[in-house]
Amino acid sequence: MSSRVAITRLIPEPGPTMLAHQTVELVANSEDRSLDRAELRGLVGGCDAVLCLLTDSIDADILDAAADCKIFANMAVGYNNIDVAAATKRGIMVTNTPGVLTECTADLAMALILGVARRVAEGDVEMRAGRFPGWGPLYMLGGDVTGKTLGLVGPGRIAAAVAKRAKGFDMPLLYHGRRPSPDMEALGAKAVDLDTLLRESDFVSLHVPLSKETHHLIDAAALAKMKPTSYLINTARGPVVDEKALVAVLKAGAIAGAGIDVYEDEPAMAPGLADCTNALLLPHLGSATLGTRSAMSRIAAENIVAVLEGRRPPNLLNPEVWQGNS
Ligand code: DGY
Repeated sequence: MSSRVAITRLIPEPGPTMLAHQTVELVANSEDRSLDRAELRGLVGGCDAVLCLLTDSIDADILDAAADCKIFANMAVGYNNIDVAAATKRGIMVTNTPGVLTECTADLAMALILGVARRVAEGDVEMRAGRFPGWGPLYMLGGDVTGKTLGLVGPGRIAAAVAKRAKGFDMPLLYHGRRPSPDMEALGAKAVDLDTLLRESDFVSLHVPLSKETHHLIDAAALAKMKPTSYLINTARGPVVDEKALVAVLKAGAIAGAGIDVYEDEPAMAPGLADCTNALLLPHLGSATLGTRSAMSRIAAENIVAVLEGRRPPNLLNPEVWQGNS
């Protein structure tokens, strides 16, 4: 019997072609927009596999609509958009695309560090507005980067890749995680508790997955511990930061600035954030390079192909389902 595979949104190649070679029936949303709930339910019904995106909320309701489905392959490293426990309960495998977006997300974190401290976007706006008054000794002074302390919250792959880059800027490194990280230690980073990291870092860069434990990890109390000269960088997930509290400290000048790529309620922003000139704001671009998005597309498709061929998918997040099946 032929398999039916859904792709929830227009994605880059090679994933769609790889799946088209495998399956007799490929049902894809060919538009570059998220499906609404009813459309998503309709698309996944009767499918054996679904390639989904972080903009799709895959909850019990959607999983129930996909009763025959064996796998939801998320084209993202983060998978907070999928209720993995509910999928496990229904015997549905969930996979992600780790590794391939590490370097480009680290590049973007570094761009935010440099950009917010050196006021790159603000300067661009001044030039385009014809407001450059000529060089001045006090004109648009920013913060130093080289030699300043970088605190990395979450010691995973992306944090280590940022640490590697920061070493090129002679930045002393602190990190905080649930357990010691040999990768971080090898880079000379010192493990500290979160309070110490917040108090001592000139740049605090977030690299934790979103979970119950990390929701609002950086709240008003945490922000109050940061130095008035320090910057917050978030390329992880928006809800890790209490965005309203962030707006308050940015407006009060209680920290020097923030470089933000992810938001609590994307694509919206907390009221007032757009008015904070000390914030450098990007529209969730962490993995947005052609090479990376193609690699994510390939890996998501490889996970589906594995399942259709009866193999364990390489990036399985709920191995108990596979053990139950094998
Ligand atoms: C991910 O894969 O989790 C990224 O946020 C996508 O940009």
